[in-house]
Amino acid sequence: MRAWRFPLMILLFSSATTLAAAINGGASFGLSRLGPLASSRQRHEREKRSLGCSDASFHALAWRAMDFYFHSYITYSTPSHQVVGGWVVFNLSNTALPFEMGCSATSAQPQDFFYSNQWYRCQGPDTKTADAALFSFDRSAGRLSVNQSWVCEDDQWPTIFNASGATNMTLDCTTSQWQNQNWTAGEIYSNEIVDCAVKNVTIQPIALEAYSA
Ligand SMILES: *[C@@H]1O[C@H](CO)[C@@H](O)[C@H](O)[C@H]1NC(C)=O
Ligand SMILES: *[C@@H]1O[C@H](CO)[C@@H](O)[C@H](O)[C@H]1NC(C)=O
Ligand SMILES: *[C@@H]1O[C@H](CO)[C@@H](O)[C@H](O)[C@H]1NC(C)=O
Ligand SMILES: *[C@@H]1O[C@H](CO)[C@@H](O)[C@H](O)[C@H]1NC(C)=O
Ligand SMILES: *[C@@H]1O[C@H](CO)[C@@H](O)[C@H](O)[C@H]1NC(C)=O
Ligand SMILES: *[C@@H]1O[C@H](CO)[C@@H](O)[C@H](O)[C@H]1NC(C)=O
Repeated sequence: MRAWRFPLMILLFSSATTLAAAINGGASFGLSRLGPLASSRQRHEREKRSLGCSDASFHALAWRAMDFYFHSYITYSTPSHQVVGGWVVFNLSNTALPFEMGCSATSAQPQDFFYSNQWYRCQGPDTKTADAALFSFDRSAGRLSVNQSWVCEDDQWPTIFNASGATNMTLDCTTSQWQNQNWTAGEIYSNEIVDCAVKNVTIQPIALEAYSA
């Protein structure tokens, strides 16, 4: 077994438009032209049904974070003792793959709880590491990033894909703050709860690497 591989193809793009351009330029792969990537979900759904795994990976790659939910609390049980928690949960789909993954993470690091350098693993129906997906959520910037590797076996040779993507999202959050004006030992001193509306977002790819398996 080789310890490393040459990529068949590396695509880097900064927007959906350049993705379409890069992919439509991939003539050496004999890929058919699909025209610019439409941002609409219907188009992704249609392509998911009509394209095989490899074609969808090259032509129509996008992720969807479904029912993304963020919640956090900072509770002071005494004026000097805090109890904190942050929680994020969503389902992840990939236009090339027929299954969803479940992604969630908890954090005890206020104030933002989730930071760009922390990565968490999503759980798929299949535990193969080849389908591994990782996410990171930068709460202060509202940036959700995904790295995923998967294998397509519908081509002449199986292809391994490694891709990363990100989206900036604005969450609709309410913050409720409460302070016990007349605190005595045994009572909760203060409470701050952030609760955001559940949201669906599309995550566009930033980079895609393809390797022969
Ligand atoms: C998320 O995944 C769970 C478990 O697989 C499923 O029950 C739920 O319906 C999914 N939610 C969405 C929005 O797809
Ligand atoms: C995710 O992918 C990005 C871009 O390829 C890379 O910089 C980052 O280190 C990756 N994160 C992990 C945890 O692999
Ligand atoms: C693809 O990504 C996975 C996980 O990020 C990594 O372990 C693997 O080495 C990468 N494969 C190649 C061929 O770069
Ligand atoms: C998303 O936010 C980052 C900084 O947080 C910025 O560099 C990037 O241009 C933004 N991307 C889009 C598509 O707005
Ligand atoms: C604060 O608590 C003390 C002791 O329980 C009580 O005597 C006092 O009336 C309370 N003050 C207010 C404003 O509730
Ligand atoms: C997100 O998309 C899923 C699947 O299409 C749907 O069931 C769910 O209601 C959507 N959630 C929101 C908040 O729009």
